[in-house]
Amino acid sequence: MNKRITTRVLQEMKHAGTKIAMITAYDFPSAKVVEEAGADIILVGDSLGMVILGYENTIPVTIGDMVHHGRAVVRASKRALVVIDMPFMTYQISTEEAMRNAAILLQETGATVVKLEGGSEIAPTVQRIVAAGIPVMGHIGLTPQHVGKFGGFAVQGQEAIQALKLVEDALALQDAGACAVVLEAIPWQVAQIITQRLTIPTIGIGAGIHCDGQVLVYHDILGLQTEIKPKFVKQYGNFFPQMAQAVGNFVAEVKEKSFPDDKRTYSMEENALRIFNEKTN
Ligand code: KIV
Repeated sequence: MNKRITTRVLQEMKHAGTKIAMITAYDFPSAKVVEEAGADIILVGDSLGMVILGYENTIPVTIGDMVHHGRAVVRASKRALVVIDMPFMTYQISTEEAMRNAAILLQETGATVVKLEGGSEIAPTVQRIVAAGIPVMGHIGLTPQHVGKFGGFAVQGQEAIQALKLVEDALALQDAGACAVVLEAIPWQVAQIITQRLTIPTIGIGAGIHCDGQVLVYHDILGLQTEIKPKFVKQYGNFFPQMAQAVGNFVAEVKEKSFPDDKRTYSMEENALRIFNEKTN
């Protein structure tokens, strides 16, 4: 199937019991790989703050960063639905500002859906953005933009009262018109209840097997990230050491003068060389 996946297709996948695979990508080559791998959704996540830009968390990421990376991802993708994160403080100040920033992200990148972190407190904003024609994906549980408030990256919803709040938040996002909700780092039992109660798909990360889909960060899948390794990450490759080794081989060959070798060196034809020597001597 070459037609781009739509939010309606996600809905149909939920109802058919077909699991949804979402992977982050941040540039042209990573989006090509994710697309080639057959992911249903590419997320231009603000996790780029950590895995691409080297920040400690997602707080410093700007709308300019998202536009820059989002454009490259959209250029590389043909089939996957492209979802883009609204960075910290681009949707919390006022609904008008949120709508303006959602429009910038869509118009300047070509992505289809914006993702916002938060529950009932942002539901009115989600409602306005959706009413304006922009599809919204919600994100609850361990929402990285709230790292300061949470005091770190800890599992959410382990107390009954917190779990109940997560169910209410998911329902509020659905009522506001969200097309799907990411559930991050919450107990699987809570994710299962939310997935059963919602008619829109849930996409889990550290939220157990019962979600309608799963998401992982590209760099975590490939073992390109050496800093943070949350418990829920499954690494499907370990490419960082291989990359460092390959690049190290180049450095070593330059130093020992074995690169470039004869096969990669152009020579001047004899006649041209003679003329060149005459002129330069
Ligand atoms: O920014 C991101 O990569 C995310 C995923 C972890 C869901 O929001």
